[in-house]
Amino acid sequence: MNRKSTLLILLAVAGTVAFMRTVGCGSARTARSAAAEKVYVAPGEHDKYYGFLSGGQSGSIFVIGIPSCRLIREIPIFEPRAAYGYAIADSDPRRQELIRTGGLWGDTHHPALSETDGVYDGRYVYINDLANARVARVRLDYFEADKIAKIPNLQGAHGIAVLSPNTRLLVVNGEFEQPTDGMATNPAPYTSVIAYLDPETMQTKFEVRVPGNIDIADTSKDGRYSFSTSYNLEQGKDINQMTQLDRDAVVAVDVPLAEKAVAAGKGHVVNGVPILEPSENPGVVTMIPVPKNPHGINVSPDGKYVIASGKLSPTVSIIDAHTLKILAEPEVGLGPLHTTFDGRGNAYTSLFIDSQVVKWNIEKAIKGAPDYIVDRIDIHYNIGHLQAVGGASMKPAGDYLLALNKLSKDQYLPVGPDLPEDQELIDISGHKMKMLASFPTPPEPHDAEFIDAKILSPRVKQVYTPAPDAVSEGRETVVRTGPHSVTVNMTMLRSAYTPDSFTVREGDQVTLHLTNVETIRDNIHGFALPDHGLNLQLPPGDTRTVTVPAGRPGVYWYYCTNFCSALHLEMRGRMIVQPKDSTIPIPDWKSAQNVKGTVPGVPSTGAVQ
Ligand code: CUA
Repeated sequence: MNRKSTLLILLAVAGTVAFMRTVGCGSARTARSAAAEKVYVAPGEHDKYYGFLSGGQSGSIFVIGIPSCRLIREIPIFEPRAAYGYAIADSDPRRQELIRTGGLWGDTHHPALSETDGVYDGRYVYINDLANARVARVRLDYFEADKIAKIPNLQGAHGIAVLSPNTRLLVVNGEFEQPTDGMATNPAPYTSVIAYLDPETMQTKFEVRVPGNIDIADTSKDGRYSFSTSYNLEQGKDINQMTQLDRDAVVAVDVPLAEKAVAAGKGHVVNGVPILEPSENPGVVTMIPVPKNPHGINVSPDGKYVIASGKLSPTVSIIDAHTLKILAEPEVGLGPLHTTFDGRGNAYTSLFIDSQVVKWNIEKAIKGAPDYIVDRIDIHYNIGHLQAVGGASMKPAGDYLLALNKLSKDQYLPVGPDLPEDQELIDISGHKMKMLASFPTPPEPHDAEFIDAKILSPRVKQVYTPAPDAVSEGRETVVRTGPHSVTVNMTMLRSAYTPDSFTVREGDQVTLHLTNVETIRDNIHGFALPDHGLNLQLPPGDTRTVTVPAGRPGVYWYYCTNFCSALHLEMRGRMIVQPKDSTIPIPDWKSAQNVKGTVPGVPSTGAVQ
C-alpha cells in the first residue's frame, strides 16, 4: 500500500467516525448540549427569574436564579444564622420574637408571593412555619423577614395562600386537629381551623372551624373562595384509622360571607380571635367530597377550575370554581400530589409513587377525550411539589417547571447516609417536556414560586435608609449609663471601627449600638466578639443594637467577618474588661493610648520601634 492510499483510508475512517458522532451517539450529545444551553447563564449575566424555595427544616427560604439554578441567597427566618447576623444575640429583638412565638427553629413549606391584579407584584413573600403555627412575611426590597406572627387556636400551620387577586387576606390551614371543647370531655371531639390574616398587620382576623386535617390551600381568582384539602374526615388518630374512607373533602370557604358573619358578631372569640361555627353560619363552608386523603389543591390561571389531587387515588378531581360541582375525575397516575399550569390549558401533576410529572389537557379531561394525557417525564425521585413559572398566578410564563423531589438516591456524589435534596428543572415550552438540569439543596425544600426579575429587581434596595437612632460619623461615644451598664455608640467604615477600643468592668452589661455608615451597596461589615456568642453582619446603612455581659476580665478583639477591603484583616478593635475590683481608672476612649505590646527578650524591629 502506498502512502497516498494509506492517507485516503485514514481520511475515510476519520470521516466515518465524525459522521457517526453527528448522527448516531451524537444525538444524545446534541440533546445534552441543547439542555445545557437552555440553563447556561454566562458569567456576569443575570437569570430571568427569581425562585423562592422553602427551606423546610432549615427554617429559611432559598433564593435561586432560573434557569441557571444557581443559589443566590438564603433568607433566614425561623432559625438564627450567624452568616447574616440574624437573631444571634440574646438582645436581638428578632431572637426574642422567635422565642416568644415558638422557638429558634421552624419548618417552612409554602412560599406565597403577594399579588396585585392576580400577578406577583414583588412586594412580599409569605411563608409558614408548620411546626409552631407561625407565618412570616419577607420584604422583597430588603430580602428580610420583617414580621413573624403566631396564629392562635391552630396547630400545624400547613397550607398557606394569598387571597387572589389582590392579597386582601392570607389563608393558613391548621393540619393537626385539636380538642374542640377545651378537653372538658373524654374522648374530646377534635377539629381544625382555617385562619384568615391581615397581610399588612399579620394579625389573625378570624377563623373558621372545619372537620378533618386541613392540608394545602389555594383561592379562587376572584376573591370569593378559599379552597383547602381536608383528609382524615375519619377523625382517626393513627394511619389505619385515617385511611378508612374512600372520600375526604375539599373545603370551600365563602370568604366575603364569612367576613359578613364576623362583622355581625357571629364569631365565638377564643384567644382574641372570632371563630365561626359552620352549623351557625350556613353557606360559609361547603364540603366537596373527593377521593382519597387528598393533598394538593390548585386553581387554574383562568380561575375556572380547582384541581384536587387524590394521593391515595390515581385520580385528580376537577371542580368548577364557581358552582363548586365536580366536573371530572380523570386518572393521571399513581400518587398524584400537586398540579401547576402553563397558561395554555395544560395541567402538570406530580406523581409521587410513579416518580413522574404528567402533563394533561384540562378541557379534554373534562370532555372525557381519550387523549387528555399529553406527556409524561421521569423524575429522580419521588416528586412532591412542582411549580411552573407563574403557575399559581393568573399569568403563567409557560417556559420552565421545577420538580421538588424527596429523594436523590444516585444523583449526586454520596455524602454520608444523608443525601442532599434533588430539584429538577424541566422545559415545558414545547409539546413534550424536556429535562434540563438538576441541582442539590440543603434540607429540605417543599414548594417554590418564581417571579420575573424584571418586576422584582428594580424594587430591591441598594442600602438601608439610616434609622432614626443611627450613629453618624463623628458622633461615636462610650457612655456609662448606670453602675453596671455601658453603651457604646460605634460606627463602621472601611476598614475601621470607631471607637477601636473601649474599657468596661467585669459585671457590666455592654450595649453595642452599631451603625455601618457605608453608603455603597454590598459594603458589609461584620462584628464578631470572641467568647460572647456574637457575630453580626451589618449591610450598608444598617444599625443594630445588642447587649452582652462584659464577661471575664481580659481583652476581646472584635473583628470584621465580612471581607470588605484589602485591609479587612486589620478591621479590629478591643473590648477591654477590667477585673471587678480593679483600681485602674477607666480611661476616656478618645484619649486612651494605644500602647504597643512587646515580648520580653525579643527585640522589636523596624518601624514599630
Ligand atoms: Cu469590614 Cu471586613
